[in-house]
Amino acid sequence: MIIIKSREEIEKIRESSRIVAEVLQTLRGFVRPGLTTWALNKKAEEIIRRRRAKAAFKGYKPSFGSRPYPAALCVSINEEVVHGIPSLRRVLKEGDVVSMDVGVEYRGYFGDAATTVALGEVNGRVEELLKVTEKALYSGVEAARVGNRVGDVSHAIQAYVESQGFSVVREFVGHGVGKKIHEDPPIPNFGDSGQGPLLRDGMTIAIEPMVTMGSGDVKIKDDGWTAVTVDGSWAAHFEHTVALLDEGTRVLTEI
Ligand code: MF3
Ligand code: CO
Repeated sequence: MIIIKSREEIEKIRESSRIVAEVLQTLRGFVRPGLTTWALNKKAEEIIRRRRAKAAFKGYKPSFGSRPYPAALCVSINEEVVHGIPSLRRVLKEGDVVSMDVGVEYRGYFGDAATTVALGEVNGRVEELLKVTEKALYSGVEAARVGNRVGDVSHAIQAYVESQGFSVVREFVGHGVGKKIHEDPPIPNFGDSGQGPLLRDGMTIAIEPMVTMGSGDVKIKDDGWTAVTVDGSWAAHFEHTVALLDEGTRVLTEI
């Protein structure tokens, strides 16, 4: 069931989303070779605590399978696509592609966003991967307008990514956001224009393209969480929580 939010509720989702934006902006400036992924998680937790908010992913139980997610932040490096678990043993190095995903709960409402950075010099095609994934997110946001359908968002993302010679991941999708971090409707990064649920005033959704340089097929590592590409190709992930309003779509997870 898709839950329509009042303007007051959207302001609350904005509040938690603003904290998400602050975490990611800080991490983009902080991340560097030599740090552990655990240090990134600590930094995220510190900011969330300072804002008296709650880390949405920590303790999150998926409907089946895996143990509860053990950290505030997901850090996914190179061929890791999403849900990488921060570790004291994982040291970042020059040339790594680092995706960081965080969710926050504040006063009963959630916000969710992700970003990807390259550490130092990377080859031109890897740079393209990051640019294309971020642009795919914005092409999805552009298509996420009242009166359009979910399939218009999905198609915009898929068509752009594939036109640039990259692949979308199909196993994970965007989602509604509200009093729960994952609500209806699912927002796939592939599909046909004109299909799927109608986008209506008051809907809040997370749009989150995951893009790979090879095949979009993924598998889950033995830790029960980390999703990696089957072919070892590198991946990027960008995500925003947005509100669909008659007066225009508003990105909530921006500073
Ligand atoms: N942004 C991701 C999502 O929407 C992160 C979820 S991590 C989890 O699914 F720990 F909450 F599962
Ligand atoms: Co999400």
